[in-house]
Amino acid sequence: MSPIKALSSKIGQKILVAITALGLVFFSIIHLAGNLLLYVGKDAYNTYAHTLHSNPRLLLVVEIGLLITFALHIIIAINLSRQNRQARKNKYAVQASKQGRTPITPSLWMPFSGIIILGFLLLHVSEFTFKLRHPTEGMEPFARTWFILKDPISAIVYMIGSLFVGFHLWHGFQSIFQSLGLRHRSFTPIIEKIGMALAVFLALGFVSFPFWGLLKNLGVLN
Ligand code: HEM
Repeated sequence: MSPIKALSSKIGQKILVAITALGLVFFSIIHLAGNLLLYVGKDAYNTYAHTLHSNPRLLLVVEIGLLITFALHIIIAINLSRQNRQARKNKYAVQASKQGRTPITPSLWMPFSGIIILGFLLLHVSEFTFKLRHPTEGMEPFARTWFILKDPISAIVYMIGSLFVGFHLWHGFQSIFQSLGLRHRSFTPIIEKIGMALAVFLALGFVSFPFWGLLKNLGVLN
């Protein structure tokens, strides 16, 4: 079988979704770690942000890689979910006509949480990368990030988006291993626990920034 044919098969697509998901999990951990420097202080965060931008060509390559990874993940996942829905419709046609409904499984929530995350990311990238929404020209990264996070609309959308990142990962992490054929009675429960811990860690970590921003906006913190 040619590589193109193999990758367009259902198993090939599942493997591609799993590999891109692994890349996105890795990115999310690094991204959270970088942003946690917001709590260390102005100098630490500004140094991190300036280092990130010190090699614009390398940054552009990483950004294009990230864009391709997100795009592949989303497009193939939507295609797979459409195929699954069709198969499920056929499978449950008799059952649904008896019960009047189609069973809801955790995997049915993945497209829903994925769309919420995509909406959040469009706002997020338009604010931070393309600088479309806030007059932050000339600000240092530390001040600029808090300025955006203090905006109530951004803060609320970021909190919802971050919670859904955790929700998506809760089911998604163990799916990665299943799709890669790495499911086994002895280690699957451990992978599920790691997935849950990672989901909670990333969700709470990311939520904390806009939450802090809201508290600053309300004058509870300075
Ligand atoms: C909610 C708390 C978050 C904060 C405070 C935050 C902060 C930032 C900042 C400061 C940047 C600009 C980086 C730079 O070019 O200097 C950025 C870009 C980005 N963030 Fe976030 N982020 C958050 C959540 C997330 C989440 C949950 C994701 C997805 C998993 C994400 C994905 C991205 C992407 C794809 C970019 C564009 C990367 C680039 O242009 O180089 N962010 N974020």
